[in-house]
Amino acid sequence: MAEVRIRGDRLLADLEALAKVGDTGDGGNCRLALTDDDAGGRELVVGWMRALGLDVRVDRIGNVVATREGADPTLDPVMTGSHVDTVRTGGRYDGTLGVLAGLEVVRALDDAGVRTRRPLAVAFFTDEEGSRFAPDMLGSLVYVGGMPLEDALDSVGVDGAVLGDELERIGWAGDAAVPGPAPHAYVELHIEQGPVLEEQGITIGAVTGVQGISWQELTITGQSNHAGTTPMRLRRDAGYAAARVATFVRDLAHDLGGHQVGTVGRLDLHPDLVNVVAARATLTVDLRNTEQPVLEEAERHLRDHVAALADTEGVDVAWRRLARFDPVAFDPAVIDLVERTARGHGHSVRRLPSGAGHDAQMLARVCPTGMVFVPSRGGVSHNPAEYTEPEHLAAGTQVLADVLVELAS
Ligand code: GLV
Ligand code: MN
Ligand code: MN
Repeated sequence: MAEVRIRGDRLLADLEALAKVGDTGDGGNCRLALTDDDAGGRELVVGWMRALGLDVRVDRIGNVVATREGADPTLDPVMTGSHVDTVRTGGRYDGTLGVLAGLEVVRALDDAGVRTRRPLAVAFFTDEEGSRFAPDMLGSLVYVGGMPLEDALDSVGVDGAVLGDELERIGWAGDAAVPGPAPHAYVELHIEQGPVLEEQGITIGAVTGVQGISWQELTITGQSNHAGTTPMRLRRDAGYAAARVATFVRDLAHDLGGHQVGTVGRLDLHPDLVNVVAARATLTVDLRNTEQPVLEEAERHLRDHVAALADTEGVDVAWRRLARFDPVAFDPAVIDLVERTARGHGHSVRRLPSGAGHDAQMLARVCPTGMVFVPSRGGVSHNPAEYTEPEHLAAGTQVLADVLVELAS
């Protein structure tokens, strides 16, 4: 078979072009799921897919799967991909790399005149980020049958919008059925979004799995009152209670140690005024761990803490579950293949778990799955400063290409 060689310059040009859609002017991107800018990103990428002669299908939750024919079209495709939506203050590589690298692999196959035995599919999934509509990885979750379509369409965003309405509004409610067909295998290239590879001077990560994710939204209700006249003993202060939860989450992660992390990323106070005790606080808690029992322990501690706090402060707390995914282990044979392929190119490589959620963790429910990581400068992501060296982008894409070709042979 002719050598399949990806070209970093084409990948960079695509990343650059996509980064212009929802450009936040500070190097970053805002393409929150199912906004006009998300639609703009989708249009651009699907245009490239069509130009490559791929068979493009859009399903009922807006996932896009673009397939390159195999020598034996009756076989299940090997799939790669990721997402093109971003958080509000996103960088230009999170998700986009996996999708655009997939398209670069298709170009490299075309250049080499190689037709793989199995079809090759490049996908992007709706609302991976989950920062507008929970849960995260919503599109891939629906794709694998982990969430009923109707429930997903009913998801209400942080801005009050309904997912199904927004999907219709931007014109991306397709007609392909969900759950979608299980691929033969799924491999996703992604930036690490953490510090490990850069700190250790390693080029390629062979991802072993994804840690468990627990998202909750707490609405704390107290009583608004005058900031100057209300004695401290008479306060039912939702703002104070929220602050206590936030510091508890930080201490909890510290005390549990290991892979435990904890974040309060959203906090809204009402009425949000300098001289009024807050009557209501809405906040989110994101807990993650590679170990399921420890994650469950963290959730228990949080519940106990909040119950005691509600009692002493005289506030009511309503809980809403936004997401809960168990830790996922990737396929040992795919992990081996990624590691071997990276070594074959002379790259330094190490195995590591993913701290971030990925569409791959959903695909792992239905087919052998793995991921390839490349370093993130400073370990910074979900931030406009997100950056990966061009040679690392190219190295990861070449490893992805060889892994896909092997799996599709
Ligand atoms: C998705 O990017 C997540 O891990 O929150
Ligand atoms: Mn991502
Ligand atoms: Mn992300």
